[in-house]
Amino acid sequence: MQFHDCFVEGCDASALLDGNDTEKTAPINSNLIGYEVVDAAKEAVEAVCPGVVSCSDILAYAARDSTVKLNGTGWAVQGGRKDGLFSCAEAAELELSPPTFNVAQLIESFARRGLSKKQMVILSGSHTVGVGHCDKFVERLYNFSETHFTDPSINASYAEQLKTDCPQATFNTTLEIFMDTITPGEFDANYYKGLSEHKGLFTSDQSLFDDRRTRKLVKKLMSERVFDRQFGEAMRAMGAVVVRAEGQIRRNCRTVNPW
Ligand code: HEM
Repeated sequence: MQFHDCFVEGCDASALLDGNDTEKTAPINSNLIGYEVVDAAKEAVEAVCPGVVSCSDILAYAARDSTVKLNGTGWAVQGGRKDGLFSCAEAAELELSPPTFNVAQLIESFARRGLSKKQMVILSGSHTVGVGHCDKFVERLYNFSETHFTDPSINASYAEQLKTDCPQATFNTTLEIFMDTITPGEFDANYYKGLSEHKGLFTSDQSLFDDRRTRKLVKKLMSERVFDRQFGEAMRAMGAVVVRAEGQIRRNCRTVNPW
């Protein structure tokens, strides 16, 4: 959620706003869930200290705390963000990287937010936890290209397993597939190990290992110590992406304040 939020207008909780044509209504965000968890956190902080902690800061703290719950080491979150006043579905569709992106497109997309190739590879490591849905990668399994029915960059037995999970035409849109097949419940460096075994779920994952511009970085990040140290730094950099001049501390994360 924090990633989606930071890539459209900066980290301003615009992804949380309800309404017609807001970011959360965009097809690319159709699987975002957990808004009620943010509401509960907001209610709790408002009860103690009203008008002080923004919804965007709540997202930043929640992102850190959820990795710690999954045995990650965590990082110091820089607070003080303001919440944005606008949210637009079309902007989300345009600004968020789709899972079909190759390395050149990913580098370009992150660079537009002032994030480096290295930070892009490190931040992708968050796919060490969480899931993807069949519709997001099914084109890699069937009728992939004129020469290959299935994307040859997928490990052959893993591809067969994915085809069982996502049968052509009738795939189940609610089925969740772990992005890290090795330790899906741990915030660790095994995502990168999976890429070296050609078990990246999306093109945007697997191409990080397959493209020589980023392969060395992936290999380095397979070390738990390196990943741990660098992930927090990269999250802080992402959390500082263009903070807009206009903002407020919302009282309710789903709506802008009426004044
Ligand atoms: C590099 C470009 C990225 C692309 C193309 C991408 C794409 C995706 C896609 C397609 C999904 C699955 C959506 C679904 O089927 O439900 C996903 C899930 C996820 N992404 Fe990314 N992502 C990227 C970067 C990031 C970054 C930088 C972060 C955080 C630092 C992140 C965190 C997550 C998490 C935690 C999930 C799992 C959500 C869940 O389990 O419900 N992603 N991403």
